[in-house]
Amino acid sequence: MIMKRKILSSMILGAGLIFSSCTYDAYEAPEIILPTEPISFVGQIEPIFSSKGCTGCHPSLANLDLSAGNAYESLMAKASRVDTLNPEASLIYSKANPDGVDSHSSKYTPEQAKYVLIWIEEGAKNN
Ligand code: HEC
Repeated sequence: MIMKRKILSSMILGAGLIFSSCTYDAYEAPEIILPTEPISFVGQIEPIFSSKGCTGCHPSLANLDLSAGNAYESLMAKASRVDTLNPEASLIYSKANPDGVDSHSSKYTPEQAKYVLIWIEEGAKNN
């Protein structure tokens, strides 16, 4: 009788552990800190391309060079890459957008995507 009770209580404990391990904290998107100053292409955008591994494929793939010092010229070489009239349609924003439909090899973080978009909205300057 005592044995049975022990088994039963350890079963209850076990079930409790299983259920409690299934609880999870609701996912909260990290807060995006918006820039307070105009975005610098050299200081803030180019480093994203190297930190996200974009430059590994894009010194050349799709005829796009995202490496530091070359990225601006390469982005401007084709109109669809940066579209200041319709910033969200710009390939440099949409291709690697984490919320986008394009399943690109590497994606921006939500914050990086926002910065790329703001850079385009600010006129896509070579600054
Ligand atoms: C594993 C290789 C790989 C990585 C990493 C990669 N890309 Fe690409 N990218 C490609 C290929 C292949 C294409 C051409 C096919 C396509 O458009 O999806 C392409 C196309 C693009 C284009 C469209 C160029 C055009 O003019 O048509 C953009 C913009 C782009 N990538 C941006 C990025 C960015 C930004 C990153 C990093 C966040 C990145 N890519 C990471 C392989 C890669």
